[in-house]
Amino acid sequence: MSVTSITVRAIGAPVDRIDGPEKVKGTATYAFEQPVDRPAYLYPLQATIAAGRITGVDTSAAAAEPGVLAVLTHENAPKLASTDDAELAILQSGEVAFRGQFVGGVVAETPEIARQAASLVRLDYEERAHDVELRSDRDDLYAPERVNGGFETDTARGDVEAALALAAITLDATYTTPMEHNNPMEPHATIAIWTDEGLTLYCATQGVHVLRAFLAPVFGLDPQRVRVISPHVGGGFGSKVYPHADVILAVMAAQLVASRPVKLALTRQQMFSQVGYRTPTIQRIRLGADTGGRLTAVAHDVVEQTAKIKEFAEQTAVGTRTMYAAPNRRTTHRLAALDVPPPTIMRAPGEAPGMFALESAMDEMAIACGLDPIEFRIRNEPDVDPESGLPYSSRYLVACLREGARRFGWEQRDPTPGAWRDRGWLVGTGVAASTYPMFRFPGNAATIRVGPDGRYAVLIGAADIGTGTWTALTQIAADALEVTVEDVELQIGDTALPMASPAGGSSGITCWGSAIVEAARTLRARLESDHGGTVPAEGLEVTGEMPDSPYTEQFSMHAFGAQFAEVRVHADTGEVRVPRLLGVFDAGRIINPKTARSQLHGGMTMGLSMALHEDSVLDPRFGHVANHDFAEYHIATNADVGSIEVHWLDEEDPYFNPMGSKGIGEIGIVGTAAAIANAVHHATGIRVRDLPITLDKLLQ
Ligand code: MOS
Repeated sequence: MSVTSITVRAIGAPVDRIDGPEKVKGTATYAFEQPVDRPAYLYPLQATIAAGRITGVDTSAAAAEPGVLAVLTHENAPKLASTDDAELAILQSGEVAFRGQFVGGVVAETPEIARQAASLVRLDYEERAHDVELRSDRDDLYAPERVNGGFETDTARGDVEAALALAAITLDATYTTPMEHNNPMEPHATIAIWTDEGLTLYCATQGVHVLRAFLAPVFGLDPQRVRVISPHVGGGFGSKVYPHADVILAVMAAQLVASRPVKLALTRQQMFSQVGYRTPTIQRIRLGADTGGRLTAVAHDVVEQTAKIKEFAEQTAVGTRTMYAAPNRRTTHRLAALDVPPPTIMRAPGEAPGMFALESAMDEMAIACGLDPIEFRIRNEPDVDPESGLPYSSRYLVACLREGARRFGWEQRDPTPGAWRDRGWLVGTGVAASTYPMFRFPGNAATIRVGPDGRYAVLIGAADIGTGTWTALTQIAADALEVTVEDVELQIGDTALPMASPAGGSSGITCWGSAIVEAARTLRARLESDHGGTVPAEGLEVTGEMPDSPYTEQFSMHAFGAQFAEVRVHADTGEVRVPRLLGVFDAGRIINPKTARSQLHGGMTMGLSMALHEDSVLDPRFGHVANHDFAEYHIATNADVGSIEVHWLDEEDPYFNPMGSKGIGEIGIVGTAAAIANAVHHATGIRVRDLPITLDKLLQ
């Protein structure tokens, strides 16, 4: 038994992006560019203390500026219907929970007037001592109820301590990753419009329906009175899945200047305190192995941070639960609640930092066992999921490692660290494995309408954040309807369309595609049964929902991959270059090789950026990110990126969805940083366990 799949014609073809011409011509409308009548512009006020309360407000100078329409503070802000989500419940009191928190805003005729007037608002504070330092020796660390994704906080099998005491070879190492910020090219942007019918939002979001579901209760609105429109989004990486306070501020401002649409686009600097970030992590990994290089114990204990006002618990150790066979195992997550903005999801939350630690440790352990790191991983390949005991719906990690080794030229490698020199550069290669779980989120439906002209309108509130949704869903619809892509007209990005889960957890194509396939099946069956196979003159419309899957309980479902890196470290300066990355992925059937390659390539680039550059430096004296712009928060640019080769196995997953696909948005980033760190060790003999790998860590 397996999922009834669809006949594949359009799927697998490198169809050009349907939205490509519009984007190249600049006519694709992003949130801030949507044409609206007489817009007003909002500029936020941000707290200049990390903890305390506002004791005085003087808005007179700002309000007197010509062109200012309203000045918003907690003294005149609309009362919210729900304050359950403390990140969203802004301006309800004078309390300040983190530096940079929104404490008001100025609405004016132009963005320039709003910004200038905002500088004239005077706020007095009573400051409290703040606490923003994450350390693993804090005495107030706590175990959250669950970690993000609904995973268990801790897991345990067998007796790790006993197994470690008995193991022939052991490793005990601590790996750390820094705070990192989601930096999509399009900043978070909103246009809020109140009318008699309710609230309309043009908003840069990874999910129109999720945004509405979070927002409506905050303002006490029937969700039917809220419409969210978001056809094009310039990236998100997780920061646009859950709404942040910017949307709330825009809606409040629009209430104050009734009948005027209010536009708000965050500045790059504001994003560093408003839209979430990846928590820093402190990860202790302990491994035990027998003399044959078989793991007997795996322990992964994580310490990370959250905000005092809102818990977000990154699932850092979950990748470790599924990677390698070992009878004795343990994973734990502990949090420090600090006076900081709430963290959020950022591309492969959990796996991206967690697999840096595990896959670095696996490299260290392979060396300790005297084994090639690929051979060491293959020796510890599990038959079934080592924690749940379930079989895998598909798992081709070993094939990815072997195929990658062949393509990369791994067999020529001399394992001795520091042995390979080229004109002042130390050269090395490294490998790491990747994994990402396959998520299905509930609540997906699609409507398909066919007219007598034989053209199909396919409607679903899905999101395209630059990933290729417009194109891939059109291909899926074409195959499910057994027509060509030219016969399909897709509509997405609007709550007026059927319900869709967000572009998150690499789940989009599975959830939206499954709903479309179901709608297409129903439509074709009804055409056959009720209309003799011919489209009636009045057309036909059906709605289908993503069916429940019996298989999610029966199988462990994950994508896998193998990442290879070649690095050059300058012997005198410690400068690190990455001339070559190569990834081979087990991601199921690839819907569109062109957009998929771009996703995996982008993920690997972000992994390189994580390995060498990204580091949000929180100043403990003030509680803010000191390097809050692109001059000082470094992201890999073209000049930092060498050759990136992306490959995938020609395999499909028979159980996860009718397309046979798995999900590709996140797995590309997983393992890349470890492959680079492992290559740096091979080049230099220096093991860097603390990201990013900057040259100071290599000058010893
Ligand atoms: Mo992804 S971090 O789930 O948008």
